[in-house]
Amino acid sequence: MKEKPLHGETSVDRMKREAGIHAAELVEDGMIIGLGTGSTTLYAMEHLSVLIEENGLRIQGVPTSFQTEMRARQLQIPLTTLDASPELDLAIDGADQVDPDLRLIKGRGAAMTREKCVAAAAGELVIVVDAGKCVRSLTGPVPLEVIPFALHPVILGIRAMGGIPVLRNGIRKDGPVITDNGNFVLDCSFGEILEPERLEGILTLIPGVLSCGLFCEFVEKTTVVVGEEGGCRELKRS
Ligand code: A5P
Repeated sequence: MKEKPLHGETSVDRMKREAGIHAAELVEDGMIIGLGTGSTTLYAMEHLSVLIEENGLRIQGVPTSFQTEMRARQLQIPLTTLDASPELDLAIDGADQVDPDLRLIKGRGAAMTREKCVAAAAGELVIVVDAGKCVRSLTGPVPLEVIPFALHPVILGIRAMGGIPVLRNGIRKDGPVITDNGNFVLDCSFGEILEPERLEGILTLIPGVLSCGLFCEFVEKTTVVVGEEGGCRELKRS
């Protein structure tokens, strides 16, 4: 059942806010950082904006979507690009599921391709989630960004693997979601994902798949900040 918002903010919103604020506090003066996409990252950006204005924090951010870029401009967070700054100190981003080994599923916002580029470029990856995102094992669906030219061959390929691909449709837009890169999104269900690294490798090799929402290769540099009611905790690989 969906929770009724209290004063417009739900308990999940509060957990996201806690995580976002905590992540923003990890950013140091002079850093160049990746700015992920989604509601939890937006809370981090709001707090960064306060730190910039009130504490004189000097940072530059690389946005991973049009949403993030527009919000960063409103919040007066200075922006740069991966071309200008191919090595980032840190990236802050959200996730849809996090398993105990800190492997992730991302891409509800269809931004996973740029998010993966930014995660790869960052020295540290700070993932901000509410407590409900932490799961015992990843169950998907796994979003794939697919070039329109190859949509049907990719659908056949996913079915041949035993997956169930669903083309993501727009809301308040007829037809498929078009990503910031001009492509489609296939949400692919595989049930419980027992070998996420293996699945990520296989999906990424399908011709026409630009990227996959499984993020397994960054666990060593990942800190997950889990927002809870009244605080948060950090998870790292021990
Ligand atoms: C964007 O494509 C996603 O990877 C988001 O980072 C993820 O869905 C988390 O979003 P929320 O912070 O809004 O839950």
